[in-house]
This record gives sequence, C-alpha cells and structure tokens, in this order.
Amino acid sequence: MSVTAAASGFVVLLLTVPVVLSQSGWSVTYDALESKICAPRGSTVTIHCNYAYPLRHTPNRAVSESFWFIKDSIGVYVDLRTDPQYSGRVLYDCEKEEKKCTLIISDVRQSDSAEYKFRFTTNQPADSWTGSPGVTLSVADFQVQVRSSNQYSSHKELMCQSSCPLPHTLTYVWYNNQREIQRGPSPSYSSRFYYGDIVSCAVKDNERSRSPPMLVQSQNGWGVSYASTEICAFRGSTVDINCTYTYPGKLNNKARSFWFVKDPNVDLTTDPKYSGRVEYTCEDNKCCLRISDLRQSDSAEYKFRFITNQPADSWTGSPGVTLSVKDPQLQVHVRRSMNIQISNWTELTCHSSCQLPHHLSYVWYNKHNQVKGGKKYFLLEHVEAADSYYCAIKGHEHIRSASVCAPEVPVVSSPSGEIMEGSSVTLTCSSDAQPAANYTWYKKNEREEFQLLLEGTRFVFSSIQSSDSGVYHCTAENELGRNSTDIIIAVKYAPRSPSVSVSPTGEIVEGSSVSLTCSSDANPAANCTWYRNHTRIGEPKNIHHFTAISSGDRGVYHCKCENKHGRNSTSKSIDVLYAPKLPSVSVSPSGEIVEGSSVNLTCSSDANPAANCTWYRNHTRIGEPKNIHHFTAISSGDRGVYHCKCENQYGHNSIMKSLDVLYAPKLPSVSVSPNGEIVEGSSVNLTCSSDANPPADYTWYKENEDSPKASEQIFNIADVRAEHGGNYLCAAQNIRGRHNSTVRLTVKAVSLGAWKSAVILITSGVFLGIILLFTFFLIRKMRTSKQSSQPGDRSDNSEKFPSNQSEEQRDFHSATVHFLKNQTDPIYSNIRPVGASGHEEDDDDDDEEEEDEVAYATVTFKSSDPRVQDTGEDPATLYSTVTKNF
Ligand SMILES: *[C@@H]1O[C@H](CO)[C@@H](O)[C@H](O)[C@H]1NC(C)=O
Ligand SMILES: *[C@@H]1O[C@H](CO)[C@@H](O)[C@H](O)[C@H]1NC(C)=O
Ligand SMILES: *[C@@H]1O[C@H](CO)[C@@H](O)[C@H](O)[C@H]1NC(C)=O
Repeated sequence: MSVTAAASGFVVLLLTVPVVLSQSGWSVTYDALESKICAPRGSTVTIHCNYAYPLRHTPNRAVSESFWFIKDSIGVYVDLRTDPQYSGRVLYDCEKEEKKCTLIISDVRQSDSAEYKFRFTTNQPADSWTGSPGVTLSVADFQVQVRSSNQYSSHKELMCQSSCPLPHTLTYVWYNNQREIQRGPSPSYSSRFYYGDIVSCAVKDNERSRSPPMLVQSQNGWGVSYASTEICAFRGSTVDINCTYTYPGKLNNKARSFWFVKDPNVDLTTDPKYSGRVEYTCEDNKCCLRISDLRQSDSAEYKFRFITNQPADSWTGSPGVTLSVKDPQLQVHVRRSMNIQISNWTELTCHSSCQLPHHLSYVWYNKHNQVKGGKKYFLLEHVEAADSYYCAIKGHEHIRSASVCAPEVPVVSSPSGEIMEGSSVTLTCSSDAQPAANYTWYKKNEREEFQLLLEGTRFVFSSIQSSDSGVYHCTAENELGRNSTDIIIAVKYAPRSPSVSVSPTGEIVEGSSVSLTCSSDANPAANCTWYRNHTRIGEPKNIHHFTAISSGDRGVYHCKCENKHGRNSTSKSIDVLYAPKLPSVSVSPSGEIVEGSSVNLTCSSDANPAANCTWYRNHTRIGEPKNIHHFTAISSGDRGVYHCKCENQYGHNSIMKSLDVLYAPKLPSVSVSPNGEIVEGSSVNLTCSSDANPPADYTWYKENEDSPKASEQIFNIADVRAEHGGNYLCAAQNIRGRHNSTVRLTVKAVSLGAWKSAVILITSGVFLGIILLFTFFLIRKMRTSKQSSQPGDRSDNSEKFPSNQSEEQRDFHSATVHFLKNQTDPIYSNIRPVGASGHEEDDDDDDEEEEDEVAYATVTFKSSDPRVQDTGEDPATLYSTVTKNF
C-alpha cells in the first residue's frame, strides 16, 4: 500500500502533546496523544516521530539505519518491514536530513494492538537509540448499544460504541438490515425500531469494519438487544453473553428474568445440565449470562426472557445468541521473517479457529517441555531439526495445538525394477513435516551442482531417456527447516550407434600396427564385435588389432554392439596407404608390333595413393611422367628394353618390358666373295644380308632365269664356270615384305699352261703336306708318351693364336718375311719352302718351335702377304684371294 492509498483511506489524525525522551542530546519524539492511539479496525494508522543525536564531540555522526519495531528479544529487534505479520501493510516515510520518520500501517487488525517504538543506529560504534516508551496502538471494534428507550414506544437511542476512545472527528455510518440509514458526526442514532430490525454501525471510509449486527427487538417499548448474535468459545472456557432489555414501565415492575435454551419456562440456573456452571452477572437493564467450563453440548441458541409483575407480561429476546462450543483447534502458524540486520527469524503464532478473548495467556512447548509462556506469538532465532513446538492456552493446558517441526528426511518413491528408456516414470517425494513441506526437485549436473528442476512433490518423466540418468535430489522444506534425499536414476537402454576410433589417428601406412576400437553407450554395457564381410573377426571384444596392416586389409568394417535390450552397429571404412606393387605393363594394340604402327605402352601399379608411373629407356626418362608412352609410328629403332617405374610417397617399384618391332627387310646388301673376277673352276660365295624382323628368307635368282638358284643367305657356287657369270638378284623376304638387290659375278677363263702348273704346284704341295703331317704326328706321339702334362693345351693354343700373338709368333713373322725376299712369287714360295726346308730345319728345335710350325701351316697366309685383303675371318676367303694371283 502506498502513502497515497493510505491517505485516501481512513487516517487517524493525531494532534498531540509531544512525548520527548531525551538523554544528553539523544531523543525520539513521538507525535501521539498520551502515547496512545485508538484506531478502528481496517483503518490506516500513521505514527510520526522526530529524533536527535549529539554532534558536539562527534560531528561525523550520522544515522546509518533506522526502523520501527514492536518485538524484541535479548537485544534483537525485528524491523516491522521484515515481520510477516505486517507483510505488505507497513511503510516508512523517513528523512534523515530532517531527522524524522513516519510509520504507516494500513488495514490495522486487532493483532496490531501493540506498543510501537522507533530505533536508530549511527555510523559510530555501538551508537543506537530506541524511543522508549513507544506509542501504544489499540485497534477498536464497534458494538451497537441501546442507550435509552421509551418503555411505551418503539423509539430508541443507539450508540456506536468503540472498544477504545476514538477521536471526535469521525463520521459514523449506521445500517439497518445492511442498508445505510444515517451518516453523521455523532456516534449515536435515535429512531423508531420495529420487530426484526438488525442494526450495525461503522465509521466513514472504513465501512468494511462494521460492528456485529444487533437485533433491536422492540414492540411498544419491549425489547432485548444482544451485544453479539454469534459467539464462538472453546471447551472448558468461560463465555459471557450480554444484552440489554427494555419494557414499558418501571424496572422494579420486573418480577423475574432468566436465560433459557429450548424451554422458555426452564431457567438455565435450574437446568441440571448447567448445574454450577451458569451465573447471571448483571443488573438493571443489562442482562449477562456467564457459562463456565463449556462443553460441546452447550452449543445452542441462548435467549433472555423477562416477566413482569403484570399478568401475562413477558418478553423473550428472539432470535437469541448462537453459541458454538468447539475445540479451539489451536494451530501453530509458522512464519519466516528476514531481518536484514541479524538473521532469519521464525515466528510461531498460536492460532485458534475461534475468536478468542485477548486477555488469554499462552504456553509454548518444545519437545513436550515448556519453553515460554505468555504471548500468543513466539519468536525463534534458530530451529533445530529435532525441534517440535506446540502451544496451549494457559489454564487449559490440556487443549494444545499439534506440533510443528522441520521436515524429516524425505522418502522418494520410484518404480521398482529396471527403468527402461522411453517408459513413463514418476518420482514422488514425501516427508513428515508440520506445517506441510514444500518440495523441490534438483538434478546434479556434471559440475556436481544441483540444478533446479521444479517445485512440487512429484517429478514426472513422460518418456525417460538415458540422459535423464543421474542423481536426483529432493528437498522438503517448511518454515522450520529443510531436509533432503538423493535418488539415483539409472535407465536401461539398448546400445547407441557405436562410435569407432582408429589408433593411431591419421594416415594408415601398410605394415603399421593399427587398432580399431568400437564403443557404444549402453546400459548395461554392450558387447561390441568387429565384422568384415559378415564374418566376425577376433573375439567378441571391442578392439580389433592389426599387427602389421596390409593393403588387403583395406575395406569396410562393421562393429556391432549389443546388450539384452537391443543392438546397434556402425561401419568404418579403412584405407591403407602403400607403396606401388610390381607394375603391370600392357602394350596396345596387343599382338605383334609392326613398324609404323601407333603403339601405346601402358604401365600401372596398385598403389595407395595412386602411383606416378614413368617410362624409361636406357636410364633416360621418355615422355612426361605419365603411365602411357605413345609411339605415333613405331620404328625398328624403338625395339629394345623399356623400364616402367611407379612411385608414390611410400616407395617405388619398377618393371622391364622388352619391345619387339616387326619390319620388312631393308634393302639387302649383296657381296661376292672373293670379290673381283672369279677364276673359272674356283668356288665363289654370293652373300646377301638384309636387316629384317623377323629375319628374312633369302632367295637367289639369276638374271633371265625364272627358277630360283638358291634359298640360302650365302649362295655358293663350288665350281665356277663361264656360264655362271652374270647378274644375280637376292630377294630378302619376311612376313612384313620383300626387298631385292643385284650383284654381278664376273668369271675369268683359265689357260691350259697355267692350269698344268697349278696342278703340279698343288700336287707338290699336297705331297709335301702329307710328309709334313706325317712327321708332325710322329714327333707329337713321341712327345706325348714322354711328357703327358705340359702347361698350356696345344689345341687351345692353336685356337687362340690368331687373336693372341706371342713373341715367338712375331719372330716367326720376321723370319717369314726374310725368307720371302728370295722368292719371286711370295705366296707360292711361301708355301713351298714350308714343305721343302724351313720346316725340316726347325724340326730339331725345341717343342715350342714345333708348335709355331703347326700354327704356320694353318694360318700363315692370313697375315704374311700384305696384298691379302682381310675380307673376313674366314680362312677360305684368304685362300680365294691367293688363288686369284695365279
Ligand atoms: C643404350 O646405351 C648404350 C650405352 O650407353 C648404347 O650403346 C646403346 O646404343 C643405347 N641404346 C639405345 C637404344 O639408345
Ligand atoms: C626386285 O625389286 C624391284 C623393285 O622393287 C621389283 O620391281 C622386281 O620385281 C624385283 N624382282 C624380284 C625377282 O623380286
Ligand atoms: C663359301 O662359304 C662357305 C660356307 O660359309 C665356306 O665354307 C667357303 O669356304 C666359302 N668359299 C669361298 C670361296 O669364300
């Protein structure tokens, strides 16, 4: 409520004699009439004060805090603003500069009746002051009273009576049967009343707080007015039921008056049920009934009846007063207040369902021991967990409230057995507590902190998930304390999609050690197994280990995890990096490679990552570093060996490929051996050769003759005749083609004389040769029998000789040259002396000379004649040359 709102309501204005409380400069002055205020229930009360403190010695002194209070205990003051009883009804309007402070209490209640004090604290140590005594507030209730009545008429004067003296400035409002009948400054109301009129009163601006309605019973001066028409009292207590009555005539005309319940002729004092418990306590026109030691059965409508001394003159105040005797249903109401100055305060109030008289005293108990007596409320600074408070009314200690206590350790009910994921789960928290506890659910997070979930006794998972697993915490709390309990929720669930890790991470190189690890979140824990191509690998364990991984281990692996609630699987593709394998080479087109065709040499190698393949020939890279080498038109020169080398960052590998190219014979080269003119009767070789792949077949033709003369590379004419002369054509041919060349053979006719000389010479030569051979073999046989093992093998020597000239050989050459000086025909002489003398002289020489002689016989012609043309290594060719010289 704001100050403005309070101003528009009923405000008690107090024009007063100041109350000054002072001590050496310290003071609090309340603007209150005799320190007492009477205010109607429901109105707004303002209490002003001014205060002062000395500054002479401490000019820095200033107010640090100030507040109003009514309750204090052992030096602890409860600021009204923190008192739950005044919650929302208290405002301060304070000004430190002017050193004044106003307390505004709105909607005052009976329970606000108390002494209000102002207290302030300064910035100096232990500097505080309380304005004591304070201002006592009494909250007024109204009651309609009959002031006077004319016994012969229905005219009455009623007073709106307050329970404390109110200011005279108020405006009174009167109601008859709930309808306003008068409004004015006078608290009295005079009018004619009729049977059944029910009157109540209030003050202006506070019309809600009316007096209890009073039945003004009146007929020709007869009437009974009850102070209240409904009274609540508790068992064992004493109740007063009051009324006033009027009748025409004088009071002393009254013969008898009494109270009754049902039978109007039975005076309560004579009723055995009320024996000793009923008393009439008033005189004159007041009628008062006091019933003590009330019982439940005393609940009834009580009526007052009076009888005059005139015949048949009686009157009953009807309807009467309804008394309800019930258990006071004492309850301890607990309220927490926060006193910012000190600590938490707990206020216990002994509450009754009956409106109990204010003068009652109360007794407080903790754990059945009396701890405090007197007031209706009880302030506690600390409440222990085991504390258990209750209250009773003094003198009626058997009527006690239920105990209030802090919550016990809560009990959490949860489903028994396993909690399956997806199911509906309700957790219920309960704890014995008085007053009833408020429940709060928390869940522990990863940082071990409790996070608020909700407030309430039940926590419901409509579809529980594994992520809901964890520690839950329920607190039960009431105004006296709190207690809590933990519960662990474990949800059972099938494996989640497994997660796969490869160790080591990064690239997998062939030969390295690799582990595949599979794991899956599951409860209970899942068994994970690795599969490849639907075949389990390894034991049912979650790690598959490759000691040395190979390229063949590349591929897709599956890990399957299962527990009794289900299964789940994940696949993992494993790539293995490796150096190129042995390359494979393909030649395109396949089959034979023909000169001039377009050919691709392709090289490839299994490698990861893909290899770069390069072709080499004779250690020289050919083409770009690419795996295809292209011949636009392959030539015979491209035949040969090629290498392909493939490499990636993990290594290299290479392969050899030999390439064959087929081609037609090149233009054949033809030669005649011996060359020049061929002497009739001699032997001649026509030689044809052509480069070809495959090697060519040769065919010899003679000019103007159709049939081939020969089909060998060397066409030998053993006995040359004149008719052999002419042009010869050699055709070289293979599957790829044919080529021919021509050579001319010139034959020279021989004269008879010369021919005879030749025959003699040859015959002599042959004869000499035979003798020489005979002699040679004879000597050799003798030597072999004499010495079987000589260093150097003769046959070897004879073969090596042409290419391995020794000292002796050179000597022999000079000797030969010397010998040849005396001869006209060197070749001819050269042959002849060998047989005639040269050899015989040497015959007596040592064994080495014998060997030279053998070599001479075989080879001499080769190098001794400077005219001999070296047309080849064939000794026959040499011979042909010699023959030509005849
Ligand atoms: C290859 O090299 C060798 C010697 O280095 C050489 O004799 C040969 O002719 C070369 N072959 C080709 C086809 O280049
Ligand atoms: C020899 O070659 C020529 C030119 O190619 C050809 O005309 C001739 O017929 C050939 N002769 C034979 C016998 O093959
Ligand atoms: C001709 O060739 C054959 C075989 O190669 C050979 O034995 C012979 O001595 C040669 N004849 C001539 C005169 O060159």
